[in-house]
Amino acid sequence: MRNDLYKPYHRINLMNETKPYQPYQKTIKMIKKIACIGAGYVGGPTMSVIAQKNPHIQVTVVDMNEARIEAWNDDDLSKLPIYEPGLDAVVGEARGRNLFFSTDVDRAIDEADMIFISVNTPTKAYGKGKGQAADLKFIELCARQIAAVAKSDKIVVEKSTLPVRTAQALKSILDNTGNGVNFCILSNPEFLAEGTAINDLHHPDRVLIGGEDAAAIQALVDVYASWVPKERILTTNLWSSELSKLVANAFLAQRVSSINSISELCEVTGANVDEVAKAVGQDSRIGPKFLKASVGFGGSCFQKDILNLVYIARSYNLHTVADYWEQVIILNDHQKTRFAERIIRTMYNTVNGKHIAFLGWAFKKDTNDSRESAAIYVADHLLEEEAHIVVYDPKVPAEQIYRDLDALGTRSPADNRRLVSVASDPLSALNDAHAVAILTEWDEFKSYDWREIKQRMKRPAFVFDGRKLLGRAELEALGYQYYAIGE
Ligand code: UDX
Ligand code: ADP
Repeated sequence: MRNDLYKPYHRINLMNETKPYQPYQKTIKMIKKIACIGAGYVGGPTMSVIAQKNPHIQVTVVDMNEARIEAWNDDDLSKLPIYEPGLDAVVGEARGRNLFFSTDVDRAIDEADMIFISVNTPTKAYGKGKGQAADLKFIELCARQIAAVAKSDKIVVEKSTLPVRTAQALKSILDNTGNGVNFCILSNPEFLAEGTAINDLHHPDRVLIGGEDAAAIQALVDVYASWVPKERILTTNLWSSELSKLVANAFLAQRVSSINSISELCEVTGANVDEVAKAVGQDSRIGPKFLKASVGFGGSCFQKDILNLVYIARSYNLHTVADYWEQVIILNDHQKTRFAERIIRTMYNTVNGKHIAFLGWAFKKDTNDSRESAAIYVADHLLEEEAHIVVYDPKVPAEQIYRDLDALGTRSPADNRRLVSVASDPLSALNDAHAVAILTEWDEFKSYDWREIKQRMKRPAFVFDGRKLLGRAELEALGYQYYAIGE
């Protein structure tokens, strides 16, 4: 049976089948207290900026992960659980004034006028929709907890990326398990990109608010209007807002897969993908952004959101639409695989026992996030060939790297530790290496002394540049065997 969430719009009673819809207007008041459930990459930075820009609103970010909350409360701002340029200054300004981090979820819910849900929504790893649909169990747990605790009317804001129509499920749980208070659901998807989150929050291209209740929408518009120009705050119906988030990420990922598909063509024809991207991007209808060929996109959103889009399309029997978007993922997987195979082929068809230094593990620069990072899959492929990998990443800790590999379940944790080591400085990763693979475009990699590095490496010294970060002319002049995506 098809999931109720995906029933067509016209066949369902929009908000609530069991109880007449109560407009929120009757009880609306100025927002004085905000709670946010989930102190992760989305909830943490977003609430910090909301608090910074609204000193009159008390913002409490709660999480069941005690260690995470402790880190958010650390006096040493360099120890915040998320690395994001500029975040420390924002937290430093607002924390203790009107921004609080706590594990007391019930209390924050009870006191808040508006509750943001910013919990993780990974792709389902079991059952129906496995590998495609979003796992909404964390969202549902939140909804049940809000319903159980709330004694006054609440505006509940979906902040996590969710499949279209989640608002309906939320509303149903809240109304059916609650204490008779009114809940109004808004969708307010986050468009920040990691590494530039603070700038994206301070200067958003747009803020999107979807909902059915004008007064609740206005309450959230007012929160953002403290710093976002009014014309950048868009209001839509709930479902448009939920769908827009998936579509924005799908379009962005599609651009990366498009240029990555061309990178392979460039490698066989002698064209240079950067030159092609520049020529194509200069057309103002296409634009220059998001055309950087790479070893493949990662991050918590792109793959998950496209899989979601594919799942929704299939559930409506729109198989051609689903196939179209699925191809973006297939191409991305292909890009990671072919990078690993290129390494093996170039190194005389065997990497068994060879030391390959990985520069970078994060899915992009300026973040300590490694979710869905291309590095994980490239490493896995090389480890199947018994390569010895030594990873250096400026921000991703060793435990996270092992967790990422263990989660794949390809080999035992003991084997992952036997084959992979993590270096705390770049030179010890590069000493005696047969090859260097660049997986993340961290700026510092460009400033290394590549002449000295070559002295430390085995000969011939191979560099596989998955980010087109270093220059071919310079590296070849130093005597490296240099391979870059799309050249
Ligand atoms: C993305 C969206 O940009 C953001 O709006 C949304 O809220 C969350 O998802 P994020 O995943 O943080 O943000 O990073 P993004 O900068 O979009 O990069 C995603 C991946 O694509 C990275 O692995 C990046 O290296 C890769 N990428 C991006 C390319 O390979 N080439 C490009 O030209 C751009
Ligand atoms: P995102 O990138 O979407 O912010 P993260 O995984 O970084 O995702 O953060 C989500 C956070 O939500 C995690 O710290 C997790 O502990 C927290 N969380 C999930 N479910 C609940 C819940 N029911 N109550 C409180 N916190 C929760």
